[in-house]
Amino acid sequence: MPKSPFTQRVLNIQASATVSAFAKAGELKRQGVDLISLVAGEPDFETPAHIRDAAIRAIEAGHTRYTNPASGIPELKQAICDKFERDNGLRYSPSQIIVTCGAKQTIFDAIIALIEDGDEAIIPAPYWTSYADQVRLMGGNPIIVPTAQDADFCMTARQLQNAITSRTKFALLNSPCNPTGAVYTRENLEALADVLAGTTIYVIADEIYEKLLYDNAEHVSIAALLPELADRTLVVNGVSKSYAMTGWRVGYGAGPQNLIDLMIKVQTQETTNTCTISQYAALEALTGPQNCIERMRRAFAKRRDQIVSRLNQMPGVSCFSPRGAFYVFPRVSELIGNSSPRGRIDNDVSLCDFLLEEAGVACVPGTGFGAPGYLRFSYAAAADEIAQGMDRVEAALGRIE
Ligand SMILES: Cc1ncc(COP(=O)(O)O)c(C=O)c1O
Repeated sequence: MPKSPFTQRVLNIQASATVSAFAKAGELKRQGVDLISLVAGEPDFETPAHIRDAAIRAIEAGHTRYTNPASGIPELKQAICDKFERDNGLRYSPSQIIVTCGAKQTIFDAIIALIEDGDEAIIPAPYWTSYADQVRLMGGNPIIVPTAQDADFCMTARQLQNAITSRTKFALLNSPCNPTGAVYTRENLEALADVLAGTTIYVIADEIYEKLLYDNAEHVSIAALLPELADRTLVVNGVSKSYAMTGWRVGYGAGPQNLIDLMIKVQTQETTNTCTISQYAALEALTGPQNCIERMRRAFAKRRDQIVSRLNQMPGVSCFSPRGAFYVFPRVSELIGNSSPRGRIDNDVSLCDFLLEEAGVACVPGTGFGAPGYLRFSYAAAADEIAQGMDRVEAALGRIE
């Protein structure tokens, strides 16, 4: 066979499972298929009016050029520093902040700065789809640490310890977690911090769902636990999820100056700055009224109760009650190997296809998150859509035997 003109690094990775499932559901809807999509990793709410207005004001004030500096307008960097101090007890100077095209770019820029051929990154599974493939794109090896539903989907200190080798560059911590909704407790994090103390391992702490917590769960940033670790931790956050701003593409990171400087250098060769107008909108999000978050959080909390209780009543389904984010991640392994009117259910991917074709409900297979035998449903959808979606899933699963 002739050698491919394209790089093995790109040929070897997968397109994001969530972005692909989202595109497939969107295409079916455009074709007029009667579909309930519980795929999207984005709030179904509009961006709050005061934030939209700030963007319009930015356009009218002529904020339509490249930003200076490219790594974020100074007012926004200061607002991010204030947010970290207020919410997380973390003190940064504006020079330690990078503002990017979504948190996805913040994470990738850090991985570009940290990972070389053969380096390892510890990633607890189930994991958000992009971490592992971003590491592979840089020639690194994701070391996947499977976590258990019975351990609340949290990596233990012993698991972390066992995964460390001389090639470990960083450990990834995502709390609240997409796809499980797991939230690491202070005790969990202290135990992990103890393992990392005295090593040279970095931490990428993805805290993008920080504001979406239920059952009085507390968000703790691992960087706040140990000053030594703060010097090796990149805290990642953004406005996409908390302020219903996924399309505006503003994420940010804070960390040690040497790492941030390298990430900023990468950004200058890559995207320059994220959209100027969006940066002014993000500034309003972080400094304006915050009650919009609570309004959305309460709606998500109700929908979570609704979907968890429906799923747990279905035979062969066991659903962990998430304490954060807006996803449920039910275990469906008992259904694998059974037969359906459309053929054998070989795995979670075929179960997902079955639900799409038989029930007209779109979700994402656990395999895309490094966890076969599970499905991910987003409950960032209207309550009546969730109810109707669950009716359809229940009826379709009833046809599996
Ligand atoms: C865990 C996690 N991190 C990061 C992101 C990226 O968010 P954005 O690039 O929209 O800021 C997402 C989006 O789905 C996510 O779920």
